[in-house]
This record gives sequence, C-alpha cells and structure tokens, in this order.
Amino acid sequence: MGRRKKTLEQVEVIDIADKGHSIGRTPEGEIILIDGAVPGDNVDTIILRKKKGLKFGKVLKINTYSDYRTNPFCDHFDQCGGCKWQNLNYSKQAELKENAVRAAMRRIADDDENKVEPILKAEQTSYYRNKLEYAFSNKRWLTEEEIQSDKTIEARNAVGFHRAGAFDKVVEIEKCHLQENLSNEIRNHLRYLALEKNYSFYDIRNNHGLLRNLTIRNTTTNQWMVTVVFGEKSEDIEDIMANLSARFQNVKSWHYIINEKQNDSIHDQEALHYSGERGIIENLGHIQCHIGPKSFFQTNSTQAVNLYQTALEYADLKKEDVLYDLYTGTGTIALFASKSCMSVVGIEQIQEAIDDANNNSILNNISNCQFLVGDVKDTLSINFKSRYGSPDVLITDPPRAGMHTDVINTLLDLASPKIVYISCNPSTQARDIKLLKEKYELVKCKPVDMFPQTSHIESVALLHLKP
Ligand SMILES: C[S@@+](CC[C@H](N)C(=O)[O-])C[C@H]1O[C@@H](n2cnc3c(N)ncnc32)[C@H](O)[C@@H]1O
Repeated sequence: MGRRKKTLEQVEVIDIADKGHSIGRTPEGEIILIDGAVPGDNVDTIILRKKKGLKFGKVLKINTYSDYRTNPFCDHFDQCGGCKWQNLNYSKQAELKENAVRAAMRRIADDDENKVEPILKAEQTSYYRNKLEYAFSNKRWLTEEEIQSDKTIEARNAVGFHRAGAFDKVVEIEKCHLQENLSNEIRNHLRYLALEKNYSFYDIRNNHGLLRNLTIRNTTTNQWMVTVVFGEKSEDIEDIMANLSARFQNVKSWHYIINEKQNDSIHDQEALHYSGERGIIENLGHIQCHIGPKSFFQTNSTQAVNLYQTALEYADLKKEDVLYDLYTGTGTIALFASKSCMSVVGIEQIQEAIDDANNNSILNNISNCQFLVGDVKDTLSINFKSRYGSPDVLITDPPRAGMHTDVINTLLDLASPKIVYISCNPSTQARDIKLLKEKYELVKCKPVDMFPQTSHIESVALLHLKP
C-alpha cells in the first residue's frame, strides 16, 4: 500500500514563481510551490513531490477565491499549460512581474529596488506570437474524465502542444489564442486531411510516423510562412504540400523538412523550399528583417520593438559612439541601433544567425555593423579595443543562464562607460549585476512584458562605470 500524500490546509497564496507555479505560505510559515492557484487565493493543497528542499503541491480545494482571478479565455487552459496565468487578471500579472524584478535587484544584486521603473505592459495580451510550433502525436493527452470512464479510446492521434512534464503526449488544440486565427485554420485543416487520408502521426517513443511538427510564422504585416516537418520520407509529402499550398494561397512561403532523428531540433536539418518566397519580411521599427524557416527571431514583434526602444533610450547613443552587441542573435539590436552610432560589432555563436544578420545588413543598406561568430567567452577580449574601437556602450542580451564569469571579467577590463543588460531571467541578471558592481553602478532597470499570460519576465538594466 502506498503512503498517503501529506496535505496542507489554509495556505495563503502570496506570489507567482517560475514555470507558472504560485508561492503559498501555510499558517505555520512553511513555503510551498503550488499548481492551480493564483495570488490572493486561500487553498488546501496536497504535496506531490519535494525537490532541493522545496515542496511542490497542487490545489485540493479553494477556500477563498482571489479578487485577482479572472475567467480563462481558452478552452484548453486546464490541459495545455501554455498560458498559465490566464486565470489572473493582466494588471496583476504585470504588477507581480515588476515585483519579481524588484525583489531580484534587492535580494540578489543587493541594490535599491526603487531603481526599478514601472513595467512596460503589452497592449496585446493575446494573439501576440509570430511563431508557433505544433506537434503531431499518436498519443493524445487524455483528460481525467476520459481516463476514469469505461470507454476504450481508440482515436489517439492529435496535433497541438506537448503536455508539460509528459514529453510523449500531445494536448489536442482546436483554437490557440497566441497567434492570429489563420494558424488555427492551417493546423486544423492538416489534422483533418491526415485523418481522412490515414497519414500516420508521429510516435515519439518508437521514432516513426509521417507527420511530426508544423511551424507557422507570421509578421505584423500579415506575411505567413509554413514549414511542415515529416518524420520519414514518403510519396505522400508532395500531396500534402500541394494540398496545403493550394488551400492557403495567402501563405507566402512554404517549406518542409524530413527529420528522421530521435530529437525534434531542426537547426541541423535541411529546410527544403517547396513554393512561394524563400522567407517573409518583418518590420521591427525602421528595420526590415528577413525570416527564413530556421531563423531565430523574437517571437513578439511589437514588444520586441518596445524592448529595443527601451534599450536604446538607456544606451543614449551619440553619433560618434562605438557599440558592442553581445549575444546578438540575428543582429536585430545591432541593426536597430546602427543609425544612432558610428559602428557596431555583434557576437553570436550560431553561424546561421550571423548569416541572417549579414543579409539583413544588406537588406537595410547598413554598412557600419560587423558580426562575428563565436562563444562570447572566447571571442570577446581586451584586444577588441584596438581592433574595433573602445566601446562607448555595450549591450548584452545573454540566454537565461546569464553571462559566464569570464565574460563578466572581460567586461570589467573593457570598462565601457555604459552597459545595457537585457535579460529574460531577473535572477541571473541580478547575479551578474552584483559582480559588475565592482566597477559599475546600477542606474535603473525596466521590466518589459514580452509574454502576457505566462511567467516569463524580461528586463533591461542600465549600468554606468563608476568614476
Ligand atoms: C536572448 S537571445 C538574444 C538574441 C538577440 N539579442 C535578439 O534580441 O534577438 C541570446 C542569443 O545568444 C546566443 N548565445 C547563447 N550563448 C552564447 C554564447 N556563449 N556565445 C555567443 N552567443 C550565445 C543564442 O544563440 C541567442 O541567439
């Protein structure tokens, strides 16, 4: 007989945490991470697991409903897990994200939280993504009721999103509110075509099946690109691509990929151009960006412009300035900033991203940007000063893990008068700022909400070299 799981009663939900969890506090002061509650609720929970001394639980009963609760707008909310904060009103989401940045600056950077400016909220809180990646699976995620019912469920083919924590299961999606509706139409059409023609859906455990992934990208100027990823070679591919491209004639660019590997990543796979244009063009403020089927690109174009504008305001570039742009991706920040300064050098480890950056320089007639491929840790050095000029401003936008300590030491040696630090993880941003404070002062910091309804937090910080 299994041990009964422990329950905790009268837990006050006090804050949000990473990955859509909320933070609860018991009457005895014990802290627990909870699924299914929002700040302001009072709940009874059951403890599901412990990890690194932290307890994780789920709601058994809501004793008092939070005033900040709101009705989720998506029918898939309970199952999908993609937009975890749909049940929390948007103003409260934004306030809690701002508080998380304040707390990181206070607790981790050991600085004054009042340097954190009000969060820049998103005007569009749904339909804001320009890219969605759907998965096909022959193992549809079953609801609790389906599992409990006596019926045998034969039809398990599904296309939608992977269920968090169940890598082989896919939640069937009829309507997603993250990308304009054409995305739903294309995905649903392909599902019905596949069911009608009996095309196989991908079996992740055994690595076989024809339909594997579907990536749909669009721009704010209503250009669309579709890439179908197949799990095996087949004569049916031509029929599928012909059917889709005939049905959706306003899609500008069609590609497919045959990925027979065990994992879903496509950056090492060839994207085959099927028809239409080779890519689509997005406008980021005054910059045009060509997006191909494998390009990295910020997924919320409107807020990306607001983020870059904030970074530029903080950078306060002068015409004669030299700018370094670390972790440049496809060079969008470098290109965006290039007209405000004399020269820019960008560093990025992915060759294809640098190819896009160079192509986008040409597309925009920009000639004062240079892009280098390599790990920032190994590429950036004090010698950059003699080669590219001493930096007047350095913008850094590392991945979630933040910057390697070697990079921080090089930044301390380079002693750029200003550093603008963009981050998608306030904890590592604050950790790095604390290290940079050996020579820098944190001037201000601004959270920017790039991903409403989710727990993701982006923030921009300005540091000045101490006199
Ligand atoms: C948060 S993205 C920023 C992209 C870009 N600044 C933008 O706004 O689109 C981080 C980028 O850093 C790159 N990257 C990650 N680790 C790196 C490293 N050690 N050296 C160089 N680039 C790295 C990733 O490939 C990615 O393009």
